[in-house]
Amino acid sequence: MDRRALLKLGLLGVSGVAAPTLVSAKGSGPAPMAGGLYYTRENPGRWSKKIGGHFPLVEKLQGGKIKVMTSHAMNGYEHYIVKHMLLDKDYNFITERMFDPMKDKVAVSTFDLGSYRGELHVLSVCNKHDTWLNTASV
Ligand SMILES: [Fe+2]
Repeated sequence: MDRRALLKLGLLGVSGVAAPTLVSAKGSGPAPMAGGLYYTRENPGRWSKKIGGHFPLVEKLQGGKIKVMTSHAMNGYEHYIVKHMLLDKDYNFITERMFDPMKDKVAVSTFDLGSYRGELHVLSVCNKHDTWLNTASV
């Protein structure tokens, strides 16, 4: 392979990494990466038998708070939910909650959204089964 071809491949790799930003900038939603880089209930990709234990559920609480639940076992560092993460409508990071599998027996977190309202993307990350996304309106 010549140098020009390698450079072309390198550029393609970079653009692949940047794709979520480009997608969000258009406001067209997460579909292109769903089932690939991250998973959704509709696009579970290679983890189609793992939806129930990995798809994060979102419950609205009073006072602008939410509860995020992933019904996944917390089996020490062997297999657990690493964290929950919140992104705004444009996929900008808002906050996250890291779990300690030696202390946290369930993957449940609560967040105070303050004055934020609108589309909220919620990510749940498993150490074996990757990242799962749910989108809620808050
Ligand atoms: Fe898992």
